[in-house]
Amino acid sequence: MGFKEEIKRRRTFGIVSHPDAGKTTLTEKLLLFGGAIRVAGAVKSNKIKKGAASDFMEIERQRGISVATSVMGFEYRNYKVNILDTPGHQDFQEDTFRTLTAVDSVIIVIDAAKGVEPQTEKLMNVCRMRKTPVIVFINKLDRPARDTFTLLDEIEEQLKISTRPLSWPINSGPDFKGVYNIYKRSLNLFDANVQEIEPGFLFEDINDPKLEDHIGGDANELREELELVEGVYPEFDNEAYLAGDLAPVFFGSALYNFGVQELLDAFVEIAPSPRPSFTEEREIKPDEEALSGFVFKIHANIDPNHRSRIAFLKICSGKFERNAVYKHIRSGKNIRISSPTAFMASQKEVIDEAFPGDIIGLPDTGNFIIGDTLTAGEEIHFKGLPSFSPELFRYIENADPMKSKQLAKGIDQLMEEGVAQLFTNQFNGRKIIGTVGQLQFEVIQYRLEHEYNAKCRFENLSMHKACWIECADPKMLQEFKKRKHQKMATDKRGRDVFMADSAFILQMAQDEFKDIKFHFTSEF
Ligand code: G4P
Repeated sequence: MGFKEEIKRRRTFGIVSHPDAGKTTLTEKLLLFGGAIRVAGAVKSNKIKKGAASDFMEIERQRGISVATSVMGFEYRNYKVNILDTPGHQDFQEDTFRTLTAVDSVIIVIDAAKGVEPQTEKLMNVCRMRKTPVIVFINKLDRPARDTFTLLDEIEEQLKISTRPLSWPINSGPDFKGVYNIYKRSLNLFDANVQEIEPGFLFEDINDPKLEDHIGGDANELREELELVEGVYPEFDNEAYLAGDLAPVFFGSALYNFGVQELLDAFVEIAPSPRPSFTEEREIKPDEEALSGFVFKIHANIDPNHRSRIAFLKICSGKFERNAVYKHIRSGKNIRISSPTAFMASQKEVIDEAFPGDIIGLPDTGNFIIGDTLTAGEEIHFKGLPSFSPELFRYIENADPMKSKQLAKGIDQLMEEGVAQLFTNQFNGRKIIGTVGQLQFEVIQYRLEHEYNAKCRFENLSMHKACWIECADPKMLQEFKKRKHQKMATDKRGRDVFMADSAFILQMAQDEFKDIKFHFTSEF
């Protein structure tokens, strides 16, 4: 198969949801279809169960599992599907946001009884920012669900995206009869006792009286609803979907493996193959011959005897070849990667080549950090791996003076992995850790102790937000920094960060210094 065909057949995407909507279950069912796993239960949820938030061993166990399920590749019909897993726990949402920079499209799972939940909205905001094409899967139709039209309205309103149902549920809960696939014009009947693949049968004319034979008295209601659908929603517009303006919607029950194959079939047909990526210098097209890619995730090995890490590289252009020499742009060094790995469901294997859209694992002894670019030689820098303004802050102090070197190294590496962000107060030089979730502090403390043999102590710091500031007028910037000198910090790249005590103080600063730009992500 030629280089261009290899790119065209790739579908690299992420599944996201509010915790418990069914992301893990759906992922598993997709893998079953792809033949990547044979039995249900093979993919362990990497979410941290409620109530176990401070159970460190649980976190570590989960981390161990999640490396295997971070990327799951499989073949389906002539497509190469790459699913990127994202942590469900909201304290790890930054990890999720970064993973979303490496996907070409997204499937959002929504619980049919709960509708749009807070985490769904946040995740959609990231997709919208990047114009990522989104498919919605409304799950758990085997349980009593909200009214279908109401659900669709809620998605449009709260997720701020137009929708177009491509399938339609016939009742829900105990009366759930199945789904009419508008996209394929076929009827798929639900039977709670059968969890086998059942692609449905063709039913082009829903006015055919045979519909009654299958779904009895619900036939008329289905006809009416479908008529309404056709009246209310314009034809499905693939271009609008690819532009991130329109979300096709599917219904089903991941638990019962129902509606999942329809979703997968439509997904491989309509979802985009690898899209162009953006560097500070220029746009990179996937079919360019020269290799380029970026590191979006680093996973440390939790076994202290094997301190190696895995850097996850998304290939953006060119063919990756094992043992070829590539340039690591940040260090300027040429490197040869002799054992790159691909992730096929729950196993890792060394590969000889990989194509745009693929994610490969690079064994790492500390050379890579998140955001690193690897190329065939060209000096480019990929954009779009933002750090978000953290909202929880603590001073970090050394609790064992004999181990200050270990502590410094540990903090450095954990920050490179993207666990949290480190700021240095410009006034008193104290180190501040900023996170988006409470759990990260516990993870940091635990990992420093177990992986780096260092001890730290946290001191509370009540702070509202950290934001990056810039100003075209150096005088004004100087004036601002002078006035706020106790609240100015430096991030890991040496940039100025304003630590606002409260929303009110931030607003005052914004009002007073109109020419200063306050940024809430590190990419601007
Ligand atoms: P998440 O990754 O989005 O957090 O959700 P996950 O797949 O773990 O699903 C959350 C719970 O919802 C699980 O139950 C799962 O079995 C259930 N579930 C998922 N899809 C469906 C569906 O289509 N219908 C119904 N009725 N339930 C569904 P749990 O009891 O929390 O976990 P478990 O002990 O069964 O693993």
